[in-house]
Amino acid sequence: MKIGIANDHAGVDYKNRLVEWLKGQNIEVVNFGTDTTDSMDYPDVAHPLAQAVLDGKVDLGIALCGTGNGMAITLNKHKGIRAGLAWSKEIGALVKQHNNANVLVMPARFIPYDVAQEIVNTWLTTPFEGGRHQRRIDKIDC
Ligand code: RB5
Repeated sequence: MKIGIANDHAGVDYKNRLVEWLKGQNIEVVNFGTDTTDSMDYPDVAHPLAQAVLDGKVDLGIALCGTGNGMAITLNKHKGIRAGLAWSKEIGALVKQHNNANVLVMPARFIPYDVAQEIVNTWLTTPFEGGRHQRRIDKIDC
């Protein structure tokens, strides 16, 4: 399993902690994000992450910014990317079960780190339900 992770300045700390935790789970991580807290523009790292997922260079993606919305809006411009914003463990499960999100987005400024880690763990271990949800996903692209 290889995961790409992208973050702006608001997500550096959570990115670093998640990378360590993911490596501890024997997951390979490719870092697309900034490594400093200097202000930067989230699309500059969101687009390369989306392309890496679409090209199969990584299996899944994780994105962090202040609210999560900038990342989610940018990532979802790419056909084939399903970037789901999650701020609780329950939504982390549903975004996989129902939406089969291939990128998980979290609002680093609005959730504690332990919740972010729990969301990632839940999203990674929860299966997609398929069925009616596959039908709905098939209707997303236009
Ligand atoms: C940065 O201040 C902030 O705008 C960004 O992290 C994100 O929340 C944008 O959607």
